[in-house]
Amino acid sequence: MSVVEMSEAPKLRIVVVGHVDHGKSTLIGRIFYDTDSLPEGKVEAIKKASALEGMEFEYAFLLDALLEEQAQNITIDTTQIPFRTEKRGYVLIDAPGHREFLKNMVTGAASADAAILLVAANEGVREQSRRHSYLLRLLGLRQIVVAVNKMDLVDYSEAAFEAVKTEYTDFLTQIGLTAQQFIPISAREGDNIARQASDKMPWYDGPTILQRLDQFAPAALVTHQPLRFPVQDIFRFDARRIIAGRVESGTLRIGDRLRFSPGGRESRVASFERWQGPARDYALAGESVAITLEEQLFVERGQIASLSGASMPTVAHRLRVNLFWMGPETVKVGDKLRLRLATQEVGCRIATIERRIDASTLADADGDTTELARHDVAEAIIETDKPIAFDTHDISEALGRFVLVLNRRVAGGGILTGADILAEDRNIVPADSRVSRQERERRNGHKGAVVWLTGLSGSGKSTLASAVNRTLFDHGISATFLDGDNLRHGLNADLGFSQEDRSENIRRAAHVAALFAESGVIALTAFISPYRNDRQNARAIALQADVPFIEIFVDTPLEVCESRDPKGLYKKARAGEIPQFTGIDAPYETPEAPEVTIRTAEQSQEESVATLVQEIRERLSNSRYEDWSV
Ligand code: ADX
Repeated sequence: MSVVEMSEAPKLRIVVVGHVDHGKSTLIGRIFYDTDSLPEGKVEAIKKASALEGMEFEYAFLLDALLEEQAQNITIDTTQIPFRTEKRGYVLIDAPGHREFLKNMVTGAASADAAILLVAANEGVREQSRRHSYLLRLLGLRQIVVAVNKMDLVDYSEAAFEAVKTEYTDFLTQIGLTAQQFIPISAREGDNIARQASDKMPWYDGPTILQRLDQFAPAALVTHQPLRFPVQDIFRFDARRIIAGRVESGTLRIGDRLRFSPGGRESRVASFERWQGPARDYALAGESVAITLEEQLFVERGQIASLSGASMPTVAHRLRVNLFWMGPETVKVGDKLRLRLATQEVGCRIATIERRIDASTLADADGDTTELARHDVAEAIIETDKPIAFDTHDISEALGRFVLVLNRRVAGGGILTGADILAEDRNIVPADSRVSRQERERRNGHKGAVVWLTGLSGSGKSTLASAVNRTLFDHGISATFLDGDNLRHGLNADLGFSQEDRSENIRRAAHVAALFAESGVIALTAFISPYRNDRQNARAIALQADVPFIEIFVDTPLEVCESRDPKGLYKKARAGEIPQFTGIDAPYETPEAPEVTIRTAEQSQEESVATLVQEIRERLSNSRYEDWSV
C-alpha cells in the first residue's frame, strides 16, 4: 500500500456487544487506556475524583467520562470514539440503548466493520449474549471476535474458557455465524487486551484483542469499489442532454462506457460539464458531476450507471431486507409504501415478514408476523412496483441501504441482504405453453396445487401422500407424488443433509412441484423440510407460479416416530451412525400456521387420508368434481 493510500485508509469501525455486566465498559476503558487514546491527564483526573468519593478506580469510568465529553456535540444518537493501534486507526461505536443502536446500524447512519462479542467466563452465554449475536447476523457483520472476559474470576482456568467457547460456538453455528477467534481476557487486569498474559494463561498462545482487531480486513476504499453513479437529474441545453449525479463509489472518466440499470442501455461519456471545481477528466467517489453521452440515450432519474462489462448493480423487485420500522403508524403486510434508494423512488409493499424482533428488548416478538409496530426490526421481503437497481449492503453501503416512506414521512429504513431474482428481471422470457390455466382447470375439473407435507422422518408423510395420491387417481383427479427419498436418488442425488443441502433440496422440490401444479396436477410432496424458511420459500415459489400451496403438518411426536422407526434410521442415528438426523441432532422447526395438521398418533390412517382428501377437495375442486368422495 502506498503512503497516500495509508493515510486516507478509512478507520475500522468496531462495536462491542454483550450481556449486561459482562464487562463492556471495562473492556472499552481498558482499550482506550492501553492504546494511550485518552486525553492528557484524563486518567489522573478520574483517579483523583474516584479517590475523593472514596471509590476504587475502575476502567469503566473512563468510558463514562468519554461519553460525557461527546454528549456535548452529538448530532446522531451514537457516539463514535477514536483510538489507534500501531497498525491503524479505529472508531468505537456505541449507543445509549438498543433502539438507537439498531436504528443507526440498520439505516446505515453508523455501521460497523467488526464486532467484539463479550461473554463472562464465570457466567457463560446469557440471554443477551444470544440476542446480540443475532443482531450481528441481522446487520450482516462477519468479522467477529469473542472475548471471554473475567478470566481472573475463574483462576485463569483453561477448562472454564473451553466450556464457554464450546457453548457459544454451538449457539453461533445455529444462527449461521462464525467467530474468527475466542480470546480469554481479563479487562480489569488488562490480560490479553494489549498485553499478552502468557504468565497467567500459558495454555493460550493466540493473539490479544488488539492483535486480532489488527488482522481484520479494512473497509474498502470507496474510490476503489466498482463505479456507481446514480442519475439525479437530466437537463437539456441546446440539443444536448446533460446527466447530473453524485459518484457514490468508484471513479468516473471521460470515455468510460456506461451501462444504465434498470434497462441496460449503454453509451460512452463524451464530456464533463463541471460547474465548479478544477477541470479534470475524472470524478471520484463523493463528487457530484454532470456528463454528456456520445449517444442521446433515454436516461431517467433513479437509474444507476456502472461501467459496461464490470460489476453492475442487481436489478430485481423482490428484495430481501433487514428493516427497522420507526413510523408512528403500524405497518401491515401489503400496505402501500414508497421506497427510496439512492435517487430511485418506487411504490412498494412488505410482502412477507420472516422474522420480527422487538428492538428495545431484542426479544423475538412472538405471534403476529403480518405487521410491524414502531421500533420493530424485521427480516422481510419487500416487493416494489417495478424493478429497481441496488447492491446488497455488504457490497455497497450507499446502494445497499434504503428508506421507506409512509404519508410523506420516512417511517422505516434498512439494508438489503439479497433479492429473489425473477426471470423478467434477467430478461428471460419463459416460453408460453399456449394452453391456459383456465382451459386445463376446466378440462380437469380441479385446480393444480402444491400439497406440501412436512414432518419428522417416520411421521407418516410418504404413507399418507401416496395413499391420498391413490384415492385421488381413483376418482379421476390428476395427482402425483414427489417423495424426498425418491428425489434424492436422482435430481437431488448430489445433496446431503447439511442445512444448506436441505434448503437446496427443498428449493428444487418446490420448483418441480410448482411445475406440476402449473400444468394442472395436484402435486403431493413428502419432504421432512425441517426449516421454516425453506418451507416459506417453497410457498413463495408456488405463489410466484400462481398456484395454491397447502401446507400439511404431519404432527407425530418424536417418540412415536422413533418407536415406529420404519427404516431403522433412528436406531442408527442414536448409535451415532447417521449425523445430523432430524429430531436427534438436527432441528425440526414446527410449522406456525399450516393449513392442515394431521395427528397420526391419534387417528387411523384411513381417517387421516379422508381428512386430507376432504381438505384438498374443498380447496381445489370446481363444479365437475363437487362430489369427490372417499
Ligand atoms: S429434508 O430434510 O431435506 O427435507 P428429505 O425429506 O429429502 O429430507 O429426506 C429425508 C429422508 O432421508 C428420511 O426419511 C431418511 O430416509 C433419509 N435420511 C438420511 N439421512 C438423514 C438425516 N440425517 N436426517 C433426516 N433424514 C435422513
